[in-house]
Amino acid sequence: MSLIEQAAKRLEELRRAGAEIPDAAAPQAAQARPDEVERIPTPEAAIRGLSSRSAAPAPVGPATLAPKQVAPSRSDALRARDIRRSDGLEQNRIDIDLERLKARGFVTPDAPKSQIADEFRIIKRPIIHNARRTAVSAIRNGNLIMVTSALPGEGKTFAAVNLAMSVAMELDTTVLLVDGDVAHPELPRVLGTPSSPGLLELLTTGQIDVSDAILRTNVENLSVLPAGAHHRRATELLASEQMAVVLHELATRYPDRIVIFDSPPLLPTTEARALASHMGQIVMVVAADSTRQHAVNLALATIENCEIVLMVLNKADKTDVGTYYGYYADEEPR
Ligand SMILES: Nc1ncnc2c1ncn2[C@@H]1O[C@H](COP(=O)(O)OP(=O)(O)OP(=O)(O)O)[C@@H](O)[C@H]1O
Ligand SMILES: [Mg+2]
Repeated sequence: MSLIEQAAKRLEELRRAGAEIPDAAAPQAAQARPDEVERIPTPEAAIRGLSSRSAAPAPVGPATLAPKQVAPSRSDALRARDIRRSDGLEQNRIDIDLERLKARGFVTPDAPKSQIADEFRIIKRPIIHNARRTAVSAIRNGNLIMVTSALPGEGKTFAAVNLAMSVAMELDTTVLLVDGDVAHPELPRVLGTPSSPGLLELLTTGQIDVSDAILRTNVENLSVLPAGAHHRRATELLASEQMAVVLHELATRYPDRIVIFDSPPLLPTTEARALASHMGQIVMVVAADSTRQHAVNLALATIENCEIVLMVLNKADKTDVGTYYGYYADEEPR
């Protein structure tokens, strides 16, 4: 059975089960955001797109030649696959278990008054400000922000997820959280993201579109880009020209978007340095009682071409800095 027939059959089953299938010709809701409009064709629209392509007139040629089959593009195929997988009602979407996150001490939108929420409110403010600078004071790639640290286990993923949640709670900002720790992706464990195509596929295949890989979530304004399948030349991919192209698309497609990268540690890996070379801002997490100053200095020395490096002290004794988190060094351009 062809993709079109399978999708049409699924639609018919849904109709019989009483599901409401929106009319593709109906206007989109006035408030629908451009990314939603673009990425979520109604099932009928997707099928119509495929049908019209396969019903295209056969190329002119000798009468004996059979009409040439027009293969659907890969992104059509992905959309059709999504229709089948998600019953045509939802695609590229994950539900983050917010109760579980909250129980583990993370910022969640339904607990805006918690201490951790307050701490990240302070941390995000200069980051957002820097991302929004315009004209002469604009920072190159200012809305590309990488959360890193010198060594493993200092709280990068914890800080990246919290920062993303906190920024998503802003009224006029959308956030894309990217799993940039491509060798050891942690967002699947923390947020329950599936092992679907992600950053590495965008860099290797050239076949999937950014909007095919981005996952919307149940947190308003928050989307996630998974790391993608392991690749032995990940460092070269992250440092490549294609990475610059993908990042440009991520950074510029929506003017209100802030892109936050969870990343590997700087000292033991080369991936983090490759990523850092593209960023407009770097948030360096320092574990209060364990990171040696020497390690922090070495890590800072690996960062090139980034105007803004902010330091965040994690796991600090509350009596030292007033809160668990705190800024550790200045945030002026270096
Ligand atoms: N401020 C904090 N409060 C509570 N738990 C924290 C805090 N910072 C980190 N953790 C916990 O410490 C553990 C290590 O943190 P995390 O995974 O964020 O480190 P990481 O720097 O991303 O590690 P890796 O280098 O392996 O990627 C996790 O279980 C995380 O939830
Ligand atoms: Mg991590």
